[in-house]
This record gives sequence, structure tokens and C-alpha cells, in this order.
Amino acid sequence: MEEGLALHHIGVRFGGLTALDDVSLRVPPGRVVGVIGPNGAGKTTLFNVICGFVAPETGSITLDGRPLRPRPHRLTRLGIARTLQGTGLFAGLTVLENVMAGASHTARAGFLPALLGLPRSDRDEARLRRHALDVLDELGVAAHADAAPGTLPFAVRQRVALARAFAARPRLLLLDEPAGGLGGEDIAELAQLIRQLPQRAADPCAVLLVEHHMDLVMSVCDELVVLDFGRVIAAGTPDEVRDDPAVTDAYLGASVDEAAA
Ligand SMILES: Nc1ncnc2c1ncn2[C@@H]1O[C@H](COP(=O)(O)OP(=O)(O)O)[C@@H](O)[C@H]1O
Ligand SMILES: [Mg+2]
Repeated sequence: MEEGLALHHIGVRFGGLTALDDVSLRVPPGRVVGVIGPNGAGKTTLFNVICGFVAPETGSITLDGRPLRPRPHRLTRLGIARTLQGTGLFAGLTVLENVMAGASHTARAGFLPALLGLPRSDRDEARLRRHALDVLDELGVAAHADAAPGTLPFAVRQRVALARAFAARPRLLLLDEPAGGLGGEDIAELAQLIRQLPQRAADPCAVLLVEHHMDLVMSVCDELVVLDFGRVIAAGTPDEVRDDPAVTDAYLGASVDEAAA
């Protein structure tokens, strides 16, 4: 059996534009796989295909060898959690409530019904709250549990968004440009955090990291897939990919200019 998430020959077109062309990749359990490529290469489209926001025209997706037709609202039940570009936190909820909402599918009575004032199990809510606090603590932001997300620095909000995704106890975490908007020091801390995910004793998890930021990807990923104009132009370990002339042409040349911009 082919374990983990696999994309087989995925093709996506927007009108006359081919956003993804025959893209295949695999995220085995416990691995950190990165998707990189210049702006417009198709990274976010790929992410959206896995999340079910974009239906591919050709190809298929499997999870542990079984066909997967992703639906955004059903992802967490499949053991898949995601963060989006930007943090996507609910402004009207506290940090703790945001993280509890992320884990609500694990509670029988449900946390959202509780928010809506429907009958709930106090025991479930207490368990959710404890779990959410544990995750916030693990990410070093438990001190902000009662804060409104809008009052916090971006790097802290980013961690809260990560905590919300973790709280669902995913076995696969999808991250779209988590370094966007972060400075160098915060990126280094984020890298350390992502690297330890597969080894987490409680809930080890695989990661698919879609990221423009080259240093982050190179330092945390076991394997990389490089996209350019919707096609896979290289795949392998960070060292293999770094030395691939096609990648240097397509990506590294461009990223130097963009990094300076
Ligand atoms: N919803 C859409 N409709 C039309 N074109 C799109 C849409 N989303 C993305 N594209 C185009 O598809 C290509 C890939 O975009 P995207 O996946 O966002 O790339 P990346 O995330 O690597 O920068 C780009 O040319 C982009 O303009
Ligand atoms: Mg993108």
C-alpha cells in the first residue's frame, strides 16, 4: 500500500492558462515535503487542490492508497489540517477559542454548538480547553490565551494559527507560505518548530510546506518538489535540488532578485 498523501498526474487549467500540468508528488508519513517555485508557478493552486478548493481537471489524489476527493470542511476528519496565507484567525474569538474551534471535531458535543448557545457537554468543553491550552503552551504562546488575535504581533498570530491547526491532531499538516510576513529571526524559530513536528510524541505528523522562502524550505524539508509554470522541474533532497541547473535557472536566479526587492 502507498502510505500517506499522493497526487497523481494532476492538471488544472484556468481558462487558457495551465496552472498545473501533470504534477505528481507524495507526502509519506512523518516526512516534511516542500513545494517551491517562483511566483505564479502553481504552488497555491496545488495547495487548493489538496484542500478541495480547486477541482483538478485531470489526475487523482489518494490517501493511504485510497481515492480521496477532498472537501474543505471535511479535511480535519481525514486527519488533514491546514493554515492559509495570512493567519485566518477569527477576530471575534479569543486565542484560546480559536484553537478550541480548530479541535472541535474531536469533541462529541462540539464546540461550535456551544458557541452558538446550544446544549453541550461541559466535560467535552473542559477537555477541549485543556487540549487547546496544551498546544498553545507547546508553541510558546499560552500567555496570550485570553487575548483577541487582532491585538497580537504578527509572529504570535502566526503561532496561534499553527496551534489551531495542530489542535485538530492532524497526521498531515498543510502550510501555505507560513514565512510570509515574518522577519529573519521569526523564520528561524518557525523552521525549528516545523522540523520537530514529525517527531512529536503525542501526535507525530507529516508536513507539506508550500513556500516561496528558499532558506526555510531548504532547512526543514526532507524532500522538495520544484514547480515552474505548473510543471515539476525537479524533485529530491534539498542538496539534490540545490545543485540542479534547471532549478538554478528557474528559481534561484529569480529569488535573488526578489529577495533584494
Ligand atoms: N482562480 C484563478 N483564476 C485564474 N487564474 C489563476 C487563479 N488562481 C491562480 N491563477 C493563475 O495560475 C497561476 C499559478 O498561480 P498560483 O498557484 O497562485 O502560483 P504561486 O502560488 O506559485 O505563486 C498563475 O499564473 C495565476 O495567475
Ligand atoms: Mg501562492
